[in-house]
Amino acid sequence: MDLFTAIKERRACRKFLPVPVSEELIGRILEAATWAPSPLNSQPWEFIVITDQQYKERIFSEGERCRQWALEKSGWKWLGDYKVDFLTFAPAIIAVIGDPKRTGVDMFQEEGTVAYQHACAAAIQNMNLAAHALGLCSLWFTLFDKKAMREILGVAPEKTPLALVCLGKADGEPRPVPRKDVKEKTTYLR
Ligand SMILES: Cc1cc2nc3c(=O)[nH]c(=O)nc-3n(C[C@H](O)[C@H](O)[C@H](O)COP(=O)(O)O)c2cc1C
Repeated sequence: MDLFTAIKERRACRKFLPVPVSEELIGRILEAATWAPSPLNSQPWEFIVITDQQYKERIFSEGERCRQWALEKSGWKWLGDYKVDFLTFAPAIIAVIGDPKRTGVDMFQEEGTVAYQHACAAAIQNMNLAAHALGLCSLWFTLFDKKAMREILGVAPEKTPLALVCLGKADGEPRPVPRKDVKEKTTYLR
């Protein structure tokens, strides 16, 4: 698949068919993740591949708890209708864990240590694009408390669970999501 087509046609997917994702495909997606750029080539990511139903249920409970908390906090109506049950149905979930120690010179800057998160985000998007190119769909999911997710997955306190990537075959066509015109988002300093 042409790269520009993959970038444009990839969609966030929240409905999955009950078809397992092979370890071979998971391996190819993880390999794509590791070709992301990172500060000083620090490769600040680790991955936990979750296919066990009991783990998925615990992740779902945390997503649901966080959804309700966010609804109360924000009052945003869409959160009342938003369901996170795809966390129990997704055939595979890959947790992306970042290591704040593996960052760049940002560790000395006033804005703080963020570059390791940027690198992990690049890895996640590589995973999304690789999944799409392999005929799968994916969801970048972040509605959870980091401390709670550390406990569920057994992650050390000094590392940060940054995202869960849900993976599987799409059940139906994911909803198209429009973009604003790039001109609205761009300034040229000529
Ligand atoms: C950093 C980040 C966090 C996200 N967190 C969530 C999430 O917690 N739950 C969810 O359903 N989608 C989440 N998404 C997916 C976005 O909702 C989705 O990418 C956006 O609506 C645009 O849709 P598209 O990916 O189909 O183009 C997240 C995306 C990003 C980049």
